Amino acid sequence: MTTPSELLPDPLPSEPLAIVADWLEQAWRAKRQPNPNAMVLATATADGRPAARVVLCKGLQPDPGFLVFYTNYESRKGRELAGNPRAALVLHWDYLQRQVRVEGPVVKAPESDSDAYFASRPLESRVGAWASQQSQPIESRARLLEAVKAAAQRFGVTPGQKNASAAVPRPPHWGGFRLWADTVELWVEGDARIHDRARWTRTLTPQGADQFSATPWSATRLQP
Ligand SMILES: Cc1cc2nc3c(=O)[nH]c(=O)nc-3n(C[C@H](O)[C@H](O)[C@H](O)COP(=O)(O)O)c2cc1C
Repeated sequence: MTTPSELLPDPLPSEPLAIVADWLEQAWRAKRQPNPNAMVLATATADGRPAARVVLCKGLQPDPGFLVFYTNYESRKGRELAGNPRAALVLHWDYLQRQVRVEGPVVKAPESDSDAYFASRPLESRVGAWASQQSQPIESRARLLEAVKAAAQRFGVTPGQKNASAAVPRPPHWGGFRLWADTVELWVEGDARIHDRARWTRTLTPQGADQFSATPWSATRLQP
């Protein structure tokens, strides 16, 4: 297990995502920020205009090698991913002196995963997912609150109700994405600004609509 400020192993391990899982776990245990799983997600339009925003990492599977986030499929990011299904992610823990960069193709998560995760969310989040057309303009905050109230009434949820079992199904426009990693880069702050960097790459070949087969990872140390 790596400890803060420890450099990357030498020689480099054959795959990088177990280190990422380890770093994420350490960031949770450090309790230094409310959302240690926050990551910047960069997407681009089909003609190459980039945009970035924060989402939460809700899953990381070193094997076969993907990260999961949940969102509104009709949001700006959802539409950009529909037109250009590749993205980049950055996780950064300042106090651990570590950065993770991940790139690769993005596919929708299986509906069963999205259903299970949606059902685990607080009641108000589930109502909100129906009320908010994420990334669309709205004329006022009051209108938004009216939409939340209307969604709550539609599902028989009373104000202040916390009952997690209330029947608010997952909206069809809301669910998970899996970013399958084909490039992972790890960065650790080093003494005297001689930081430690390494990149792992592999080739992913589509197998059906939402799976890939992967070559083994190839690892390279980079100059900082
Ligand atoms: C700490 C933090 C966590 C967030 N987590 C999510 C998330 O998991 N999913 C999501 O759709 N938006 C999340 N957001 C909001 C997004 O950053 C963004 O405002 C929203 O998804 C709309 O982005 P878009 O218009 O580019 O699609 C989060 C914001 C912050 C600051």
